[in-house]
Amino acid sequence: MTQSHPRISKAVIPAAGLGTRFLPATKATPKEMLPVVDKPAIQYVVEEAVSAGLDDVLMITGRNKRPLEDHFDRNYELESALQKKGDAGRLAKVQESSDLATMHYVRQGDPRGLGHAVLCAAPHVGHEPFAVLLGDDLIDPRDPLLARMVEVQEQRGGSVIALMEVAPEQIHLYGCAAVDPTDDADVVKVHDLVEKPAAADAPSNYAIIGRYVLDPHIFDILRKTEPGRGNEIQLTDALQQLAADEKVGGPVHGVVFKGRRYDTGDRGDYLRAIVRLACEREDLGPDFRTWLRSYVAEEM
Ligand code: UTP
Repeated sequence: MTQSHPRISKAVIPAAGLGTRFLPATKATPKEMLPVVDKPAIQYVVEEAVSAGLDDVLMITGRNKRPLEDHFDRNYELESALQKKGDAGRLAKVQESSDLATMHYVRQGDPRGLGHAVLCAAPHVGHEPFAVLLGDDLIDPRDPLLARMVEVQEQRGGSVIALMEVAPEQIHLYGCAAVDPTDDADVVKVHDLVEKPAAADAPSNYAIIGRYVLDPHIFDILRKTEPGRGNEIQLTDALQQLAADEKVGGPVHGVVFKGRRYDTGDRGDYLRAIVRLACEREDLGPDFRTWLRSYVAEEM
């Protein structure tokens, strides 16, 4: 382990996007609060940060932020009602989210892009490496990714991004990385990045997914990054500069993820996440799977 790198303890969760792909559900509710089975999507993300050892969580919020803050806060009225009823099981569920992590919030104001959202974390993060977890990107809890990324950052320094191989016709939906192999099978060296390229211009089929461990030099770069694609300040553009000049902020590596991941801001993926996680739940799974089998048999 490189001792000059302080241990990573802070996670930043940008959750200030407009969620337009999920309208009208997201008109008055942040998309991160939509339930995946019986927990809001954002709770899985905070749980993932905590299980990777990061229990200082800064959430970047925007419009309709109240439900996010309320979810991770105490709800004395509800707790006392459940206490009076002697419903210990549900009481534990209510208290679980408020006991998870030390939560902090900052408001983005105008949603000027993911890069701008990350920049809002600068005063809280200071000069340490930190993790970024996108609030609408759900990594299946059985396929740990962030803990591996933290380990790679501690070994190699610089920044670490998460990559997933996608079909060429899907790459225009993602940031895309040009990479070289390393001596670790699941780690690649990133030497270039492009945001949402056309299939013909994509340097690879490695898509950037919503987990990052970043060197704090990213803030200096983001301060100077002009709006790019979609007139938004793109995190990918700033990362591209980190990858291009190793002298400032060290190298950029990618951890290649082969596990299950859902974009809960996309309606199709959201439905897949619910079905998959519900099927595998001990309490709901057996009944739900039986119903699903007969439903599929009827429909096919
Ligand atoms: P997305 O592009 O997926 O989110 O941003 P969006 O803009 O809310 O989605 P649609 O396309 O309108 O449905 C990726 C992540 O970055 C956050 C989002 O909340 C999401 O977690 N984000 C994006 C911000 O926090 N601020 C921004 O200005 C933009």
